[in-house]
Amino acid sequence: MSNFPQLVFSGVQPTGNFHLGNYLGALVKFVEMQNNYDCIYCVVDMHAITVAQDPLELSKHIREVTAAFLASGIDPKKHIVFNQSQVPEHAELAWVFNCIARLGWLNRMTQFKEKAGKDRENASVGLYAYPNLMAADILIYRATHVPVGEDQKQHLELARDIAQKFNNDLADSIERNGFGGGFFPLPEPVIQGPATRVMSLRDGSKKMSKSDPSEYSRINLTDDADQIAQKIRKAKTDPDALPSEAAGLAGRPEADNLVGIFAALQGVAKEDVLREFGGQNFSSFKSALVDLAVAKLGPVGAEMKRLQADTGHIDGVLRDGAARASAIARKNMTAVKDIVGFVR
Ligand code: TRP
Repeated sequence: MSNFPQLVFSGVQPTGNFHLGNYLGALVKFVEMQNNYDCIYCVVDMHAITVAQDPLELSKHIREVTAAFLASGIDPKKHIVFNQSQVPEHAELAWVFNCIARLGWLNRMTQFKEKAGKDRENASVGLYAYPNLMAADILIYRATHVPVGEDQKQHLELARDIAQKFNNDLADSIERNGFGGGFFPLPEPVIQGPATRVMSLRDGSKKMSKSDPSEYSRINLTDDADQIAQKIRKAKTDPDALPSEAAGLAGRPEADNLVGIFAALQGVAKEDVLREFGGQNFSSFKSALVDLAVAKLGPVGAEMKRLQADTGHIDGVLRDGAARASAIARKNMTAVKDIVGFVR
């Protein structure tokens, strides 16, 4: 296996209502990784249309995620920020991968089963092939590290299987074209983060979700201080005081979630939070959480709103990122064409 230079790639879907779970689960990790790696962060708009989208909303949501990236502190000059549909090589490589991945592999994908629901006959072909496009996103840059949530682990394994099969099936041609040792790296998921799973404020057993009908279930990044305070004060709890040790959070999903959110926002471990708040009741802990959340999220939300008001600027950032992403993608796609045997 050849040595691939370390490169980070990750993608976020533009589906609206960008919330605290997206922020702590993805963006905080993205920001951290840019200090140690070259990073490519992509707004995956082509993945978004695997389910129906309102075109006017879609453009708005692409700019919303881009604004969230920038407001969180991702540096679009040192790294690359762009939207997927501006770099056609993602779709081109995805087609090649449609011909590498096996039906049996895709049939095992749990996210497809969840999203397609009972009416599988009526799901789009794109939703089914979604993991192949995701593999193409990563591998068109020959990226080695992929920060994702726990729920994307299976898709990452599929990307590794595709890379491996491409390398094996086309080994001779890869060698002839001067890429001894395999053309694609086997990308690694990077799962650990401040809070890989932020749960609903109304039900500690459900993930915080953009599609939850209750606004009180989630904190959106653009919520103002009053909204943040109201949602935290109304958050579901149990009647007991906070435990002094993390083990005491077992079986108390709402307490666990609020302590986890506090820890992630503060950048410390749950134990540290409980050392401070163990034995206290929820009302005093919630006041401290409101202060912390407003202090940490307020500036991000304000910056997001400022950026979103200037679509010209956002679109310019995306175009510049796409141009730099294209330069890498084009070169790698040319090599893939040669390896496959296409004439160009
Ligand atoms: N499927 C990912 C999600 O829903 C988004 C995504 C698309 C992605 N392409 C990617 C993540 C490539 C990492 C790398 O969260």
